[in-house]
Amino acid sequence: MQHQKLMIASLASLLVILCVRRVRDSWVGWFVRGEFWFGITMFLRDYARVYTMHLAAGTASAYWRIVLARSSVTAEAVAPALLLLGAIALLEAGVVRRGTVVLATGATLGSCVLTAWHAVVPLMAYYSRYPISTLIAALDPYSQAGFYLAFFSALLAVKKARESPATGPSWQRSPSNLHGNSDWMPISAARRKFQAGGIIIGEAYRPDRDPKVGGKAPLLRYDGEVGSGHCLVFAGSGGYKTTGVGIPCTLEWSDALVYLDPSAEVFPMVRAAREALGHRVVSLNPEDGRVGFNVLDWIDTSTDRSLMDIQAVVAWLAGERVDERNDDYFKHAARGLLGCLLADILFAPGLLPEEKTLGLLRRRVALPIPELRQLLEDIYAKGDSYGFGFPAQLAGNLKDITEKQFAGFYGEAGNLTAWLAVPSLARLVCGSSFETREILSGELDVFINVPLKVLQSNPQVCRLILGALLNAAYEARGKISGRILFLLDEVARLGYMGILETARDAGRKYGINLLLMYQSLGQMTATWGMQGRQAWFDSSYLKLFGCLQDVSVAEFLSKACGEFTAVSQGYTHGSGSSTGSATSKSSSTHETTSEQQLVRRLIKPEEILQTLRDDEQIVLISNCRPLRCGRAIYFRRPEMLSRTQSNEFQQISRIAAR
Ligand SMILES: Nc1ncnc2c1ncn2[C@@H]1O[C@H](COP(=O)(O)OP(=O)(O)OP(=O)(O)O)[C@@H](O)[C@H]1O
Ligand SMILES: [Mg+2]
Repeated sequence: MQHQKLMIASLASLLVILCVRRVRDSWVGWFVRGEFWFGITMFLRDYARVYTMHLAAGTASAYWRIVLARSSVTAEAVAPALLLLGAIALLEAGVVRRGTVVLATGATLGSCVLTAWHAVVPLMAYYSRYPISTLIAALDPYSQAGFYLAFFSALLAVKKARESPATGPSWQRSPSNLHGNSDWMPISAARRKFQAGGIIIGEAYRPDRDPKVGGKAPLLRYDGEVGSGHCLVFAGSGGYKTTGVGIPCTLEWSDALVYLDPSAEVFPMVRAAREALGHRVVSLNPEDGRVGFNVLDWIDTSTDRSLMDIQAVVAWLAGERVDERNDDYFKHAARGLLGCLLADILFAPGLLPEEKTLGLLRRRVALPIPELRQLLEDIYAKGDSYGFGFPAQLAGNLKDITEKQFAGFYGEAGNLTAWLAVPSLARLVCGSSFETREILSGELDVFINVPLKVLQSNPQVCRLILGALLNAAYEARGKISGRILFLLDEVARLGYMGILETARDAGRKYGINLLLMYQSLGQMTATWGMQGRQAWFDSSYLKLFGCLQDVSVAEFLSKACGEFTAVSQGYTHGSGSSTGSATSKSSSTHETTSEQQLVRRLIKPEEILQTLRDDEQIVLISNCRPLRCGRAIYFRRPEMLSRTQSNEFQQISRIAAR
């Protein structure tokens, strides 16, 4: 009967704690909590002992009857550890705070002490008559076993509680939306929204809640049709951009693909998988030396639109700047010279299409000055009927310039095209392995494998290649088989490229999807400026952030995720007394419970920097709630791993579960 009374007392305490908020938040609450734990501990001990005795009574074998009866004391000692197990499970589920585990540990230790006390007290009478070693040897082994078991479970619980984050319901979401109502997009909603397509955004699970699902959860797929169709990826160096976005997209995207892969790590891994789709896969790599295409073959000289195209090609050659100014005379005149010579090459009726290349432009720019002046005279003489008058007008501007000034822009034009004198680089943009318009068939994949060193010193190579492929899509005016995904890793190295802005703003209509990967927001600002960066953010449908190390990005992201209204509860208790006269004295006590509505960020910058796992990301989606989900790291997914060839960059590394 005793244990039933204890149980009733404990449950009554629990009810008081749960229902009477005023008590819960005061020192009385701690007293009631203590009472609950004491009651429940005593109940469990009592019940475990009685139950084991009951089992013993029903056992036929005399030996086991004795063992069970004697082990009732062990069961009695260990029973409160069950409570501890429950408290740890609830702590891990985020239902209770560490304090609950501390109280449960205290209860288990208390049970140890009681068991020890019951074992030691009968021997105390013999203390003066026998040596201590004899008394220890006489201790009941069943009590000892109970003591040690309960003691070590308490130790383990302390260890576990220290490792667990001090999570728990430290605040509650308010039903009001006074300070905002931001929340994460539910994973089920994300699955419904992103169920088809070849752009792999991530995995449909919450790594902060369910980390074991990583690599097994369903993929979140985007088809590039909804919204602007463009994506931005931000992750620090080694932040799973290539392995978590680049390779998965390459494996799943079924239409034409252009992949800027300067370290040439992705091409050998996915080549077979892309070929298995029936695609022709080419790698533009100067070290390979065989593959190249004519980056001028898309220019249609039958209309005067070609004049704008010629100027665009000159801009890619000469390098554009976001804050372009016209204060550099030589650079400007050099562009005029390049435009004039290029127009003359493209409109020349006597040249075969395969002869109209940048290689020929370079050879003409490198002519000695007198010969070049003569060439300009000849172009000028061709008059207004030739090439819509464009070459003649540019030649007219340049041909009579003084010797000194001519030498200035002649030198500048020579510098701008100097890289075309390197055969392996020139071959990339003057070759004939394929035609630019083949990309429209939806069955050509181009990997731009220009090494980082070359990309750094001669970004023009990649600008020309990308510009030609993007323009091929424009010229098609939507007559493309499927869409073209431009997946640009290390895109910051390209520098400013006006054509990417055009692709961003009008690309969706022309079947172009851009996926740009940056290591930081700073890289993006350096290329596009603050306003340009804003424009990219406004017109990208998805923005993926993972593995962030930059405080300003964390601040930006935290702000973008928004705020919600939280409830904080406060309790104050006080008493006072006052003496009015010699005969009158009054005293008062007051208790106040208050509920305050506070504003809280959905995720704080320090939480992004310190607690976001490496395999976790936050996705900002236009006009939707932010999404917190896993990353589709290809080497964690057996079905993807089996479709890739081994990676020479592969290192055995495990994802740090911070
Ligand atoms: N097959 C693999 N098995 C295990 N770890 C790998 C494998 N391939 C890459 N990694 C590791 O995954 C991490 C992320 O690599 P990844 O190339 O995706 O980074 P990144 O964001 O593209 O970096 P960077 O900006 O330097 O290109 C690295 O620590 C890398 O060592
Ligand atoms: Mg990479």
